[in-house]
Amino acid sequence: MRKQRFALSRAYTLLEPGPVVLLTTAHRDACNVMPMSWYSLLDFEPPLLACVVSAANHSQSLLRASRQCVLNIPTAELARQVVGCGNCSGADTDKFSRFKLAHSAASQVGAPLLDACYASLECRVVDTRMVRRYEQFVLEVVAAWVDISNKDPPTLHHRGYGRFMVAGPSIQLRSKMR
Ligand SMILES: Cc1cc2nc3c(=O)[nH]c(=O)nc-3n(C[C@H](O)[C@H](O)[C@H](O)COP(=O)(O)O)c2cc1C
Repeated sequence: MRKQRFALSRAYTLLEPGPVVLLTTAHRDACNVMPMSWYSLLDFEPPLLACVVSAANHSQSLLRASRQCVLNIPTAELARQVVGCGNCSGADTDKFSRFKLAHSAASQVGAPLLDACYASLECRVVDTRMVRRYEQFVLEVVAAWVDISNKDPPTLHHRGYGRFMVAGPSIQLRSKMR
C-alpha cells in the first residue's frame, strides 16, 4: 500500500456515514426537503441520532420552529432529485413540485413521508444544546416505515463533490455486535 498525505479538508469524504437521507421539514404553511449525510447514531432504543443541519439552510429554520422532521432514505433511482434538492433552497423553491416528489402524511409528525423513498423515519428533536456550537440536533425516531420487499436497497453514500457510492449486496457473518 502506498499512501499519500490527504488534505484535511477532504478527510470527511473517507468517513461519510450511512445512506444519504432526504430530510423533510414542515412548519405552518412551509414544507421543505434537503439531502443530508452528516449524521451519526447515538443509541438503539429509543433510537437516537445526531445530525448537522447548517444555519445557512432553510431547513434549519423549519426544524428549529417545528422540532420535528422525517429522514427519508432514497435509492439510486432518485440520485438526480437528491442532488437537485441540494443545489437549491426551499427559501425560494418548491422542491416537491420542481423534483416531482410525491409525499404523504406521517403518523406522528407534521413533516411528510416521501413516497419514492424505500424507508422513512419520523423524528422529534430531543436536544438542541449543540446547535449553537455545531449546528447539531439530536433526534429521536418515533415511527419508522420501510419497504420490506427491498432486501438490499441500492442506497446512496456520499463521497463528496457529487460522487456517490451505491450500496450493493449484503454478506452475513457470525457477529456479537447487535
Ligand atoms: C449529498 C448531500 C449531502 C448533504 N448533507 C448535508 C448535511 O448533512 N447537512 C447540511 O446542513 N447540508 C447538507 N447538504 C447541503 C444541503 O442539502 C443544501 O445546502 C440544500 O440546498 C439546503 O436546502 P434548504 O435551504 O432548502 O434547506 C448536503 C447536500 C448533498 C447534495
